[in-house]
Amino acid sequence: MGKSYNKDGSHWQQAAARLWHSVVSEGLIKTLKGERQRGNNLGPVWALDCGCGHGKASDGMMAAVHKAMQEHRHEIGGHRCLCVIHNDLPSNHWAELFNTVNAPAGYAAGGPPTAMAFASGKTMYERQAPDESLHLVVAFNSIHWMDHQPRPLSDGLVFQCSTDKEATQAWLQVKQRELETFLRLRSAELVPGGRIVVSWVETKEGGGVFKAVHNVVNVMADEGWVSRETASKASLPFVFLPMSTLLQPWEGLEAIWTADNEVFLHAYNTRVASGQCDEGKATEMFFDDLMLSARGWAEGMVTSFMADDCKRAAASGGLEGHNPADAADAVAAGVKQFYVTLRGELVRSYGNRPGPLGIKSHVFVIRKI
Ligand SMILES: C[S@@+](CC[C@H](N)C(=O)[O-])C[C@H]1O[C@@H](n2cnc3c(N)ncnc32)[C@H](O)[C@@H]1O
Repeated sequence: MGKSYNKDGSHWQQAAARLWHSVVSEGLIKTLKGERQRGNNLGPVWALDCGCGHGKASDGMMAAVHKAMQEHRHEIGGHRCLCVIHNDLPSNHWAELFNTVNAPAGYAAGGPPTAMAFASGKTMYERQAPDESLHLVVAFNSIHWMDHQPRPLSDGLVFQCSTDKEATQAWLQVKQRELETFLRLRSAELVPGGRIVVSWVETKEGGGVFKAVHNVVNVMADEGWVSRETASKASLPFVFLPMSTLLQPWEGLEAIWTADNEVFLHAYNTRVASGQCDEGKATEMFFDDLMLSARGWAEGMVTSFMADDCKRAAASGGLEGHNPADAADAVAAGVKQFYVTLRGELVRSYGNRPGPLGIKSHVFVIRKI
């Protein structure tokens, strides 16, 4: 999945992450002041960035943290090196991450003694650092991904829109266990007074923009692009839990910040107001933006749905006599059709009028007690 999260698709997440630079920086500065009061202000400051992806959001975030550490150096006991462990799955595009953070404009460009970037390529539901070694953990737009998917949603792609009670119940239980594991592991890794800053995405009732995503593979099955079996097995492995469910197991909660996400609607309004284009063209661009964004995070998963469909067709004799190049073409054609269908569903569910995403992003600051 890491590779599918490209720079084109990430801009709304990056915009949201930018809102929270000050929240993250203030949290860390409080931790470091506390550490100084306890007479411990030597050595590097360690941060863990869970689910970093290509690092486009992380870079700005860590640059803000680094700047805050320099501005507050007298309160935190002098210059300390910021060391960041960027974490993602092994399949992440690590070269792109390091090219970003170590680039001349990247937060780690100066190297020691000011800042350094490291990586940990394994699931965040395993230990990432020694006991009581981290000052800060951030997890932006990542902890809603399922580490384990208990069973597919039988009626569509998206958890919030599914009416498959047994599957959604099973997913909820798994996700709650994953969250507890995440907190337990990070709690062991944080220094006393260390902070976790984590973003959480919630959709409005009905699923917001995801209502359009939910049905895409079913529509493709109706139109003969994929088999019914593929449609009933394909699911996007993320759970946007309601806040009430999320908050229950969490103690030491310091702040909740909420941002409504209207970034594409804002772009539409700006294009029309500035005269850059007329309403019709701006509407087309609005739906193109939504599509491109979905493509950024979904491409890897959509490709695997279509590859599975080809394998099923081959196994049932549907691709008999076809060579691997044909199968690759069939996968590519299926992926292309997925986005054509998605665009159609987006236009339909929005009534061909630009609107908000129906997604809220929250950020929690949790202090280790
Ligand atoms: C939507 S991207 C967010 C990237 C970045 N943090 C941001 O805010 O723009 C989600 C990232 O989480 C990673 N991810 C998903 N499950 C993970 C897991 N179990 N352990 C580590 N990373 C994971 C994905 O590979 C992906 O790169």
